Amino acid sequence: MKRRTVVKGLGAASAVPAVGLATGSARAASRRPADGPLLFDPAAYTEQTIGITDTEGVAHEVVYRFHKVASYVAKPVDATYQSLNISVPVRIDGAAVDAADAPILFANSVGGYMPSSVANKTGITATGMGGATSRQGLALAAGYVVVEPGARGRTLVDANGTYYGTAPAAIVDLKAAVRYLKYNQGRVPGDVHRIASCGTSAGGALSSLLGASGDSPLYEPYLREIGAADASDAIFATGAWCPITDLEHADMAYEWCWGSNPLASGALVDRTVSGELSSAYGPYLASLKLRARGFGALTARNLDDYLLKTFMRPSATKYLAALSDEARAAYLAAHPFLTWDGTEATFTWADFLTHVGARKKNAPSFDAFDLSTPECNLYGTGTTAARHFTLYSLRHAAGDSAHLDEDIPAKLHLMNPMYHLVDKVNAGRSRHWWIRLGTKDSDTSHTVAGNLSARLTDLGDDVDTSYYWDAGHGADQDPGDFIEWIASVSGHRHR
Ligand code: DHB
Repeated sequence: MKRRTVVKGLGAASAVPAVGLATGSARAASRRPADGPLLFDPAAYTEQTIGITDTEGVAHEVVYRFHKVASYVAKPVDATYQSLNISVPVRIDGAAVDAADAPILFANSVGGYMPSSVANKTGITATGMGGATSRQGLALAAGYVVVEPGARGRTLVDANGTYYGTAPAAIVDLKAAVRYLKYNQGRVPGDVHRIASCGTSAGGALSSLLGASGDSPLYEPYLREIGAADASDAIFATGAWCPITDLEHADMAYEWCWGSNPLASGALVDRTVSGELSSAYGPYLASLKLRARGFGALTARNLDDYLLKTFMRPSATKYLAALSDEARAAYLAAHPFLTWDGTEATFTWADFLTHVGARKKNAPSFDAFDLSTPECNLYGTGTTAARHFTLYSLRHAAGDSAHLDEDIPAKLHLMNPMYHLVDKVNAGRSRHWWIRLGTKDSDTSHTVAGNLSARLTDLGDDVDTSYYWDAGHGADQDPGDFIEWIASVSGHRHR
């Protein structure tokens, strides 16, 4: 028996609880008994209507099917997190749309490496930060299928005090969700070979990791353990906003970048710690063997010049070019460090750092000596809430003969896209990349996104990287362009 609940809403705020969802499991069981739980049932959905305002300010009425998938794995550890929702447009502004072959936006909502659940959502998340239309909303109004996966996160702890969402749980879950879609190719709406992932901050880190590590065998035991579908977890395109990644090198990178910037209090961080970490960044950077056109090998000596010329100056140039003559003159008068020749903005790296001002984090920024940072919790295990994951911080805390726990190195690889792009160049990676970061974002070093972009470019992938001038953490200033980019790289005719 199939029941459909047709819900007519009046706008983004009108999402109505999905009731009477048919699971389809009886029919699925007769078709594929062994894999019943992982079969998608196209007939189980609620139909909803939503108002979505596009980036031009034009309002659209979208009728869509909202599918709730109770779990994307056969053996969920916690289905509250290991579930996903699929939204499929059927009518846009009164015209029927067929999303059967449309690109799929795979939008994670991870923040802070925390657990993220979509289990209680009763419709697509069409509005994002500050009430603006979310990437999901824009994608739906463009005729794409939107998948919103939940994932376990670092703070989850069971009745025995065991942490069950620490590394690598979140990436394993996102991979399992992709596998679910690919396993259901032909049953699930949308083109599973045109999955574009997106996420912001920790979600951007996981999105870039999902893109970099597609089909890597390293995750196999973890995927098997939760009963993930037997299918590929490679994705077609990757969007990453302010990715907080390359964590085990992020303390060094942070001091290389922001070491001379004061904290909000005006104080500088410990000069010895900052200096030691910053000095250690050079050898790490050298080990990546990054190259960039016009710069040759990227080293701790020319990386500032690379970042300045490749990202920061073009970012300021774009910003200033878009201003009215009056507004530009006012900005330039207020920021004399910046020179404008009528077409291009120029300034030095040192002046750029001064312009950014206060750094957000103390040193070490990620592997704090007192284990207080989110990342120490991310590398917790068993009943241990937080652990050191760099030798530098561990030895600072526990003495020079201390060694990282045995499982840490492998877990670092499972969480770091750079590992899959440098140490083991992964053929299953995504080949289309959209990377964005605000120039005033000091949640991590500017080198993190810059190095990711440099490496991918060097590998010959299609990379679109841009920094938003004067924007802080989590900014997304060109969400409509991202939606159009998905159409362009996937060969989909954009509406
Ligand atoms: C996020 C921000 C951080 O500064 C961090 O260290 C980890 C995650 C976030 O916003 O997701």
